[in-house]
Amino acid sequence: MLISKDGDVTVTNDGATIVENMNVEHPIAKLLVELSKSQDNETGDGTTGVVILAGALLEQAQKLLDKGLHPLQIIEGFDKGCEYAVEHLKTIKNEINYKENNFENLKKAAKTALCSKVVSKYQDKFAEIAVNAIMAVADQSRKDVNFDMIKVEGKVGGSLEETQLIEGIVIDKEMSHPQMSKKVSDASICILNIPFEPPKPKSKYNIDIKSAEEYKKLYETEQNYFRDMIKNVKESGANFVICQWGFDDEANHLLMHNNLPAVRWVGGAEIEQIALATGGRIITNFKDIKKEKLGRAREVKEINIGTKNEKMIVIEDCPTKKAVTILVRGGSSIIVDEAKRCLHDALCVVRNMIKDPTIVYGGGATEVSCSLSVAEKADNTPSIDQYAIRAFAQALEVIPISLAENSGYNGIEYLANLKAKQIKENNPCLGVDCSKNGTFNMMSQGVYEGYLSKKQQFQLATQVCKMILKIDDVIKPHDLDEPAY
Ligand SMILES: Nc1ncnc2c1ncn2[C@@H]1O[C@H](COP(=O)(O)OP(=O)(O)OP(=O)(O)O)[C@@H](O)[C@H]1O
Ligand SMILES: [Mg+2]
Repeated sequence: MLISKDGDVTVTNDGATIVENMNVEHPIAKLLVELSKSQDNETGDGTTGVVILAGALLEQAQKLLDKGLHPLQIIEGFDKGCEYAVEHLKTIKNEINYKENNFENLKKAAKTALCSKVVSKYQDKFAEIAVNAIMAVADQSRKDVNFDMIKVEGKVGGSLEETQLIEGIVIDKEMSHPQMSKKVSDASICILNIPFEPPKPKSKYNIDIKSAEEYKKLYETEQNYFRDMIKNVKESGANFVICQWGFDDEANHLLMHNNLPAVRWVGGAEIEQIALATGGRIITNFKDIKKEKLGRAREVKEINIGTKNEKMIVIEDCPTKKAVTILVRGGSSIIVDEAKRCLHDALCVVRNMIKDPTIVYGGGATEVSCSLSVAEKADNTPSIDQYAIRAFAQALEVIPISLAENSGYNGIEYLANLKAKQIKENNPCLGVDCSKNGTFNMMSQGVYEGYLSKKQQFQLATQVCKMILKIDDVIKPHDLDEPAY
């Protein structure tokens, strides 16, 4: 549970979010925060694992320093250890197949990312949503996924189970006037980022109205402004208006009278996404509204969500780019926010699979297998590097130990058993049975992790450790209040 300075509470087990929100002061700890962030930027998942691994490497390094090894010797050994581990990863990775509308393998990878999260009870549903969302917007030929076309919108209320994937863009707004029509078919959308208001004087300026005639004149001028604006919109052929800013009540009324349903106060990022998906341009001047600048969609409608009948706008079937929205529901904003973070991890994992469909097995199976291989290499290294290479192998064991302990087993005992089993059966798929399914085999349990993400974890953690070990001294500029000697 993270509590901000303003008292806002976040409950999460997402590694990157935790370290980012921690008020870290120690300079070395700051490096670990950066480490977690880089893992998040590169792959989006495995942010906890990378910090745990780096921590274990540092612990091993301390032991080696106590033994009398020079930091450079440790660095050399860790480097070799990491190299051997990555080499071994290549021999145990597997390519998965997700063609012919069979996305089971992708779902397994998404489920592994969701298994340890707050949404684990609904991991099947969330995994399915993540896979369908990615497949809807993925460009299979370029092996690319445009994340901008997937909107994750949270709405407090209902339960996590009611989370759904909606084809199109959903905005958490309602029509600006209750009497506007709730559905527009074959929508031509006018996307504005200017307010529906007469221009205001930029400097401080007072208008003194001294008579009823003068007031009437001002009122008429204002009315004419509104009429012109609406005429511009109408003449372009638009039948729906989305505006980043507000409307004057008068303008709202006129829009309704002219049969122009409209939505106001739509966020900047959403406006851009709508423009991209509908093929429209964002219009900054009423005189620029032209037919060819309008966005298109088969239908725009206002829908009611949940028992409280909260309203949202859905823009469906956008012709230019396929866009989808995941509408996350949950009992409180804390749950909705965490569910959004979980979905982010699952979406990233599936995206990574589209880019490179190779996996290794999770549940610590890969770490045990790599650890065994690196330890064997250490035994065959005649130089002093042997110690640090072996230490690297031991550091890798921290993942299966943590998983076993978190699942209620005795970590060390479980690991010993697991290592013996992997050697006996020569099977790199054996890992920690966290879900207590009665089998160590992560292949049959479907616990898949991205190969690239795992490789990244090993390399990033090693890099940070090397950097820390290279530090000879910490120099701090002296405090101005203290006398300098
Ligand atoms: N069903 C499962 N059985 C065994 N292990 C699992 C299962 N599901 C996930 N795991 C393991 O849990 C670990 C992932 O945990 P978690 O998602 O909490 O951390 P992370 O991916 O390192 O970081 P984060 O998700 O916070 O960015 C991986 O080692 C994965 O193999
Ligand atoms: Mg994860």
